[in-house]
Amino acid sequence: MQFFTSVVMQYGGIARIRFGRNNYSYLVSDPELIRELLITNRGKYRKNTRYKMLRRVLGEGLLLSEGEAWKRQRKIVQPAFRQQELLAQVERTSTLVADFLNRFDVRAREGESFDIEPEFARLAQLLAGTWIMGEPFRKRADRIADLFQAATKVWPEPPRSVLAGYRIPSPAKMLTLRKAFSGFDRCIYEIIAEYRGNPGGQNGLIAMLVNGHREKTGSELADDELRDQLVTLFIAAHETSASSLCWTHYFLSMYPESRERVRQEVQTQLQGRLPTAEDLASLGYLEQVIKESLRIYSPIHSLSRVAIEDNSIGGYHIPRGATVIVSLYATHRLPQYWDNPEAFVPERFSAEQSARRPAFAYIPFAVGHRNCIGGTQAMLQSKLIVAQIAQRFNIDLQAGHPVEPMPGTTMRPRYGMRVTIRNVEA
Ligand code: HEM
Repeated sequence: MQFFTSVVMQYGGIARIRFGRNNYSYLVSDPELIRELLITNRGKYRKNTRYKMLRRVLGEGLLLSEGEAWKRQRKIVQPAFRQQELLAQVERTSTLVADFLNRFDVRAREGESFDIEPEFARLAQLLAGTWIMGEPFRKRADRIADLFQAATKVWPEPPRSVLAGYRIPSPAKMLTLRKAFSGFDRCIYEIIAEYRGNPGGQNGLIAMLVNGHREKTGSELADDELRDQLVTLFIAAHETSASSLCWTHYFLSMYPESRERVRQEVQTQLQGRLPTAEDLASLGYLEQVIKESLRIYSPIHSLSRVAIEDNSIGGYHIPRGATVIVSLYATHRLPQYWDNPEAFVPERFSAEQSARRPAFAYIPFAVGHRNCIGGTQAMLQSKLIVAQIAQRFNIDLQAGHPVEPMPGTTMRPRYGMRVTIRNVEA
């Protein structure tokens, strides 16, 4: 991430980088050139789907599919992401969050420091899984969380240098990974079987996916196709949300005056109640805090595309087959739009300051036809969670704990995030 940032500082809005003999990639960082890549020239690129490990887990779901299959999948699932649909989920989500946070009461009583990253992963999984797969997921949420945690521990760490490759995991680690993923797959197939046995039950989005596919193609969605779609939505939704929760609370711990301002806003607006759909628009400062955290440590730190024909960006020739990278990390630090970019300043996202920047200087959810389908959902859910935590707890980073962002599939803290929790004085 720092390498890309330094290339951008030295060479500007588009640069060609040599990664090996005859292996060139292009780094695009200027907001107008990002528009050319992801919108104007969109038909000349496909997603870079050379993520072998990820493909093995996700299969052919919405994130990695292309062409007609992608178009069909996106159309089928789109109605679930309409504002009204999302707001209708708020009450249920708020209650799930409140129940989950009782775990933090226990932690506060114990007073010991602990790694909060797996806790945020558990919470994000519970919300994403219950929304996507309903009750059959909720019953298995703990089992699935344990399997994910086992896999996360041995998932290959990204190298520190951009020129180094991933190290192949040891046979023991590969075995753990395989076991975790086959256990996870077993859970998903059980959920599918439960749905097939009771298609009218509380099954989240499953019926919508199955019926939508039948209407659009005239054929039935096979179990393995349904599995790929469910797993893709589930992983796309929870990995990013968990990472965002971690970083937001990291910043709130480092900037206690922001944390206090969030708390005051939440107290004034909610008066101790659980947040409802109507409350969300009134939590303006809280929203700025989440946006600023997504700017500094975007859970998806970069994305890439492959040119399927010769084209040009910003007047530069991009040959067919070339990989074009957008580093969200670097674009979110362009000094012409972000003064003192490493500093956490939520006020950057006031309406006045946002209006002074080009739209694509800030792209945590990407832009264009392959943008994040869950952006509104992610913001809404983060607000519900951060507000409830502000009502009940102070989360403090353990003194001396090293924090380093690690650019894996999502950006996670390399050494986890050890914290202590205190209850807020009533
Ligand atoms: C803070 C939370 C989130 C962040 C930062 C985020 C970010 C992104 C980004 C940057 C992309 C584009 C990737 C690329 O072009 O290579 C993306 C795609 C996607 N996201 Fe999210 N996301 C978040 C939450 C969610 C949620 C809650 C869902 C719900 C299911 C979701 C579902 C997806 C899907 C399905 C795609 C692929 C869309 C397509 O290709 O048509 N994301 N996300």
